[in-house]
Formats: sequence, structure tokens, C-alpha cells
Amino acid sequence: MKNNAPHENAFAKLEIEGKVLHLPILMGTEGEKAIDISGLRRRMGFVAYDPGYADTASCTSAITYVDGENGVLRYRGYDIEELAARGVKFIPTAWLLIFGDLPTDDERAKFRELLTTQELLHEGMLKFFDALPPHGDPLAILSAAVQCSSLYNPEFRSLEPKDTETTMVVAAKLLSKVRTIAAFSYKQAIGEPFVYPNPELDYCSNFLHMMFSIPNRLYRAPQLVADTLNLFLMLHADHEQNCSTSTVRIVGSTRANLFDSVSAGISALSGPLHGGANVQVVRTLERVYNKETTIRAIVESVKKKGATRDRFRLSGFGHRVYKNYDPRARILKKEVYRLLQSLDIKDPLFDIAIELEETALKDPFFQENRIFPNVDFYAGILLRAIKIPINMFTVMFAIARTAGWIAQWREEELDPSTRLQRPRQIYVGPPKRNSLI
Ligand code: CMC
Repeated sequence: MKNNAPHENAFAKLEIEGKVLHLPILMGTEGEKAIDISGLRRRMGFVAYDPGYADTASCTSAITYVDGENGVLRYRGYDIEELAARGVKFIPTAWLLIFGDLPTDDERAKFRELLTTQELLHEGMLKFFDALPPHGDPLAILSAAVQCSSLYNPEFRSLEPKDTETTMVVAAKLLSKVRTIAAFSYKQAIGEPFVYPNPELDYCSNFLHMMFSIPNRLYRAPQLVADTLNLFLMLHADHEQNCSTSTVRIVGSTRANLFDSVSAGISALSGPLHGGANVQVVRTLERVYNKETTIRAIVESVKKKGATRDRFRLSGFGHRVYKNYDPRARILKKEVYRLLQSLDIKDPLFDIAIELEETALKDPFFQENRIFPNVDFYAGILLRAIKIPINMFTVMFAIARTAGWIAQWREEELDPSTRLQRPRQIYVGPPKRNSLI
């Protein structure tokens, strides 16, 4: 790695057009191997071609580890299963991701206090919401509002990431305000008055209060519901260099401030191949429930050939990195089962999901291509059970991922080897044409 020692001084030998180049072999903590090709163009006149960056590491990172072959996910070295089993909540997880260790009791208390003092938005922001059309997409509102909120707090725009104290304040501001903005976006979208945060409540209960209370009827989330939301947020908090996190890092590499970088990350999350997949899963299950299609027909459409971009994609299945069951999906599936039982809810979409999973996993195409359920497959059913409306599903993902984005943005800022992220291309357009005249 750039900031780690090369692997036992090992080199890969690249021979092109009679010229030989020795490229350092690098090794990560868990034995992941990489070839450092930096300087390839300068020294050999070639660039590397890797559409979608499937075989390219864009950075070194000490935050999250994913072993896709074996279905392993760790935050700062802790297995996700252990964090879930021990009930580690979202806020301590955010701290773990940002600062590297779980918070001490003092740090926890201080951070909780900061989250509470930062939970209000500047009243001027209400005019921002007022100017939006009714029924706007809450995710689009969130992205715009996060950027806009920093204008009311100019100090946000110049964070010095080396300073732990300032990072703590800014992280608390962003995590706290994202939650308030998300709830306000929803209220804006359904035309209900905003409900202000309640300083007595913990992070998740407070969010549910702002979502579901109305001035003449307070909503107090049952502990089970708040715990479920905590688990959802914890599981989605970071996932190494996924598309939205890479977006945050790309924007951050221009030395853009945290808020502008995170706003870009929220927008990147919207697509159905990334954060929007949890919406598509529920839409697909609803189509089966409404008898517009069948599980067999869905599984068969996955196999139809065609250009990669036009191919039918079964949302909630497949992953760039996991070629095994996504551990988050396993945890969520168990949790959905437990939750539905405890709340005595019968959700037919859950039964359809189980059947779809079983049918897909038995199918040779899914087996050969190693396509398994990912985190989004059961996430939507879980959110439905705690009454989160479907237009908020991806927003929930964004609230969670804000923790990872802060950690990743800061790591990039602190890494002395960070360069402006600027890929090359291979131009395939027309060669120089004759003059227009
Ligand atoms: N439905 C249909 N075909 C699939 C799927 C799927 N869900 N996943 C993979 N494949 C096919 C893919 O078309 C490819 O076929 P071929 O080699 O014939 O072109 C083959 O399986 C191998 O795919 P891959 O190279 O592993 O896939 P990728 O890295 O290009 O795409 C993905 C990863 C997540 C975009 C894809 O699996 C997908 O479209 N899944 C559905 C959308 C989804 O659930 N997204 C959420 C991902 S997890 C949470 C997050 O990060 O946001």
C-alpha cells in the first residue's frame, strides 16, 4: 500500500513491447493482494482499462473490511454479526467508524449531548422546504437540504479533519441534522406540519417521533421498533468503496467540504442498482402479490441474454463484491422474522420473499453466477414492518451511510498520499476531422 510496506519487496513483472516494468505487489491486513500500477502511463505509455473499476482499488482504507467470497463484513475489525448480536447501536457504530474504536462512556455522553444540541435546523431552512413542490422525492430533498444547511453554518464548510474535537462537533452536527432533515423531507412530502426533535429521546426514537407525531397526537416508538431501526442503521453504516462512498471520496478529493461531498453521496445512492434497490425489491414482491407476475417468471427473466445494461436485474440479489450470502441480509432476514412475530404482523410480502429466495438459490444460473440475496432484499420488508413508507426507504439508507461517508471523507483528508481522483479514458470517437470550413 502507499502507506503500508510493499509485500516482502515482491514485484509483478509487466512486459510490453520489449520493455519490462517491475510493479510493487502490495498486501492488505487480511492478505488481499494488489499490483501498484501508479506511474504506468508515465513509464510505459499505457493506462489500465477496467470499466466499473471492478478490479481496481482506488485507495487504502482502515475502516471497513469485506471478504466477498466468504461473506465477511467487519467495521474496524469487528465482525458485523458480533456488533449485531451485542446490540451495538448506530451512534456508537458511527463513532467506531469515524474514530477507530467504540466510544468510552465519557465520549458517548459527550457525543450524545452534541447530537442533542445540534438537532434543530436553522429556522431559515423552513423557507427552503416551503419552496419545494408538494410530493417531492424525500431523497432529492435530503441531498439538496444537506448542502443548503451548511450555508446556515459556514463553519461546517471548513472542517480541519486532524482536529478530533472539531471533527466530533461536525460529525454530530451532520448526523443529527441529517435525521431532522430526513423527517422534515417526509413531512414536506405528505403535507403535514414539521415536528421538532425532542431532546429527551434517543437517536432512533427521536427520528420516529419527528416522522410520526402530529401536533395533536404524539407518537412514542415501542422499544422494539426503535431497536430494529438501530439495527437497520448499524448494518447500513458503511460498506467500503461502494458507489456512493466512492462519490463522496471523489468529490472530497477536490478538497470540497464534508457537506458538499455527502450531498453528492446521497444523490449517488438514489439509483436502483445501489440505494434505490430496497424500493425495487418491494415493488417486485408487490407485483407477485398482485398476480402481475410469478416467482418463476422473475427467475426466468434474470437469465434472458442481452446487453448488460438492458438485462433484467432482480433487485436485492447479486453484488459486486459478495459472491456469497451477504451477512447483512442474513441478519435482516432473521430480524424481520422476529419482528413480525413480536408485533403479530402477517406480511404476505415476507412469504413471497422467502419463496423467491428459495427458488432463486436452487436455480443453476444463480448458483453458477454466485448471485445471492444482498442487504436490500429484506431491508424493505423490515422497514414496512416499522411503518416506514416506501418513499423513505432510500433516505433511511442515506441516514445510516452518513456515518460511513464522514469516516471515509475524513480518512481521505488525513491520508498524505491522497491525490485528486481523476480517471483516464480511452477515446473512441472520430479521429481529427477536416476543418469545418
Ligand atoms: N439480476 C440479474 N442478473 C444479475 C444480478 C441480478 N440481481 N446480479 C448479477 N447478475 C448477473 C450479471 O448480469 C452478470 O451477468 P453476465 O456476466 O452474463 O453479464 C453476472 O450476473 C455477474 O454479475 P456481476 O459482475 O457480479 O455484477 P455487477 O458487479 O456488474 O453488478 C450489481 C452488481 C449489484 C449491480 C448487480 O448484482 C445488480 O444489478 N443487482 C440488483 C440491484 C441491487 O440489488 N443492488 C443493490 C446492491 S447491494 C447494496 C448497495 O450497495 O447499494
